[in-house]
Amino acid sequence: MARIVAGIACSHVPAIGAAIDKGATGTPYWSPLFAGYGPAREWLAAHRPDVAIIVYNDHASAFSLQLIPTFTIGVAADFPIADEGFGPRPVPPVIGHPELAWHLAESLILDEFDMTIANEMAVDHGLTVPLSVTCGQPAAWPFPVIPLCVNVVQYPPPTGLRCFKLGRAIARAVASFAPDLDVLIYGTGGMSHQLQGERAGLINRQFDTAFLDGLTQDPAALTRLTHTEYMREAGSEGVELVMWHVMRGALGDRVTEVYRHYHVPASNTAAALMILENRSAA
Ligand SMILES: [Fe+2]
Repeated sequence: MARIVAGIACSHVPAIGAAIDKGATGTPYWSPLFAGYGPAREWLAAHRPDVAIIVYNDHASAFSLQLIPTFTIGVAADFPIADEGFGPRPVPPVIGHPELAWHLAESLILDEFDMTIANEMAVDHGLTVPLSVTCGQPAAWPFPVIPLCVNVVQYPPPTGLRCFKLGRAIARAVASFAPDLDVLIYGTGGMSHQLQGERAGLINRQFDTAFLDGLTQDPAALTRLTHTEYMREAGSEGVELVMWHVMRGALGDRVTEVYRHYHVPASNTAAALMILENRSAA
């Protein structure tokens, strides 16, 4: 049987990808951030998952305002790297896992989560930056990836609680997949940041720290945060944090936080990376 072995929470700031692609990770500005990624790469290299589900949001790359699915799962054999205005990032193509992806689609929809199914989908920095952060710059990504998009761009995004419940349904789906696979799940986006308006540049370290603590210790309490609270405390783009609840919901009640890195600033964002190992049976 397949099992979810761990979850990774990871910011997906586009400038982090640009710093990697331009060879700027050792500069005084970037080196403190990247120094904190080393232990996460060591953890990943040691644990070698068979497949990863990456929960992220599309930033008007695969979808536009013409079509705004709340939850999308990518079932393709591969996913091209999106051109976000500067050409596609120079990273390996993302190889999918159609067998598990279709199983997830079927299981989730029959479990009353009405997923949009993507047979073709370009993937943008929301997915590729967490891969780069945790895997470095390999010639090929070390595992296949199932992209799972959540709309957090066009109001209304799903609630944190709905995302947590989707994670629970993902856990049930993975547990009913017969092949013996170790599955890793990423929740990406966040942390506190606001890109526009009078509060552009907002960072809230206190909120971010409490959110990281709560994700490990009391995720149910965090699911009660409203969109207004996310926006007030973590900025307008801080609402991306609802995607972390999908990851946390896919883990059981008992987790061990094995790594945490938090750094300000990364571009105009607070950036974090946290690894939670799953200690619960599905
Ligand atoms: Fe984003």
